[in-house]
Amino acid sequence: MGDELVIRPMRSDEWGDVAELIHLSTNYWYEVNRRLRIFSCPPEACTWFCKVYEALDPGCCLVARDGGSEGRLVGSCFYHPRPTHVSLGIMNAHPSYAGRGVASRLLARIVQIAQEQDKPVRLVSSAMNLDSFSLYNRVGFVPRQLYQDMFLPKGVAGVTPPTLAGQVREARLEDVPAMVALERELAGLDRQKDFEYFIRNEQGIWHMLVLESSPGSLSGFLASVNHPSSNMLGPGVMREASAALALVYRQLEHYAGKTPVFLLPTDQPELLGQVYRWGGRNCEIHMHNVLGRFQRMQGIQMPTFMPETA
Ligand SMILES: CC(C)(COP(=O)(O)OP(=O)(O)OC[C@H]1O[C@@H](n2cnc3c(N)ncnc32)[C@H](O)[C@@H]1OP(=O)(O)O)[C@@H](O)C(=O)NCCC(=O)NCCS
Repeated sequence: MGDELVIRPMRSDEWGDVAELIHLSTNYWYEVNRRLRIFSCPPEACTWFCKVYEALDPGCCLVARDGGSEGRLVGSCFYHPRPTHVSLGIMNAHPSYAGRGVASRLLARIVQIAQEQDKPVRLVSSAMNLDSFSLYNRVGFVPRQLYQDMFLPKGVAGVTPPTLAGQVREARLEDVPAMVALERELAGLDRQKDFEYFIRNEQGIWHMLVLESSPGSLSGFLASVNHPSSNMLGPGVMREASAALALVYRQLEHYAGKTPVFLLPTDQPELLGQVYRWGGRNCEIHMHNVLGRFQRMQGIQMPTFMPETA
């Protein structure tokens, strides 16, 4: 390998191979290093990453092939250009090629694309995966926020609803400008097209809620996804802990009988204390990595990996 490694955009006839690689490389890494399996679904279910990401950002998945443009598939990564930043996700390299620079080469290409647009690059990576941490940290990414991945083994059955839960309702397309304004104010980010995509919900896997503090004024919103490859709450932003609790509660209520995972900032003791009282358990630690400009979050941010929305 080396000079023969080609990095190029994924074609639609490669979705199946990319899905298989994501499934294999991620499960392999976590089984060997952490004795856990990330994807319990069959490999074909990971085709959803291609389906969703290509609908949102056509042409924004890079593949790495060894031995020329049609050589062996050895890595892939998606990226998402937005008005304020470029995010990236589902970086992976084939285990047989581990430590041989496949991920570094994919990352360098995405950083180059972002720099040409004068945008920072953002992602959420596992704090329990040194290979991933090193990949980003070596080229200047700075960890800006820690998150703990939580779930409620028994759901919210028996939990007293938080008082603000009554103001939570299903999001409508007319809410998008207020959602964008809220996230711009609190986090300096603009992800309008993601919100429109979730609310349109053409694939039937998304659920977006807003918290209306007064008519036309939002104090938070929270999306979720439910598919065999991913059942998570997020992305979302909220002005304060009470808004986050109301939205998390209502999303969990929506998934009665399931145990979706959600990421909460580790520096929010009021919010975390309540989730522990609800029976919350930690299952991972993630960190928010940024290369370039960064505005500190003013409220609470709940990122997700589907799509990558750090
Ligand atoms: C994480 C993963 C993508 C890394 O892929 P890879 O192709 O093996 O990574 P690379 O060979 O490009 O190595 C990345 C860099 O980290 C460096 N590195 C690795 N471990 C290191 C350590 N402990 N300390 C310092 N640097 C280290 C390597 O030297 C390399 O830098 P270089 O290219 O400048 O030499 C791969 O292990 C994988 O697919 N894991 C499963 C899926 C996953 O966890 N994805 C990450 C999601 S954010």
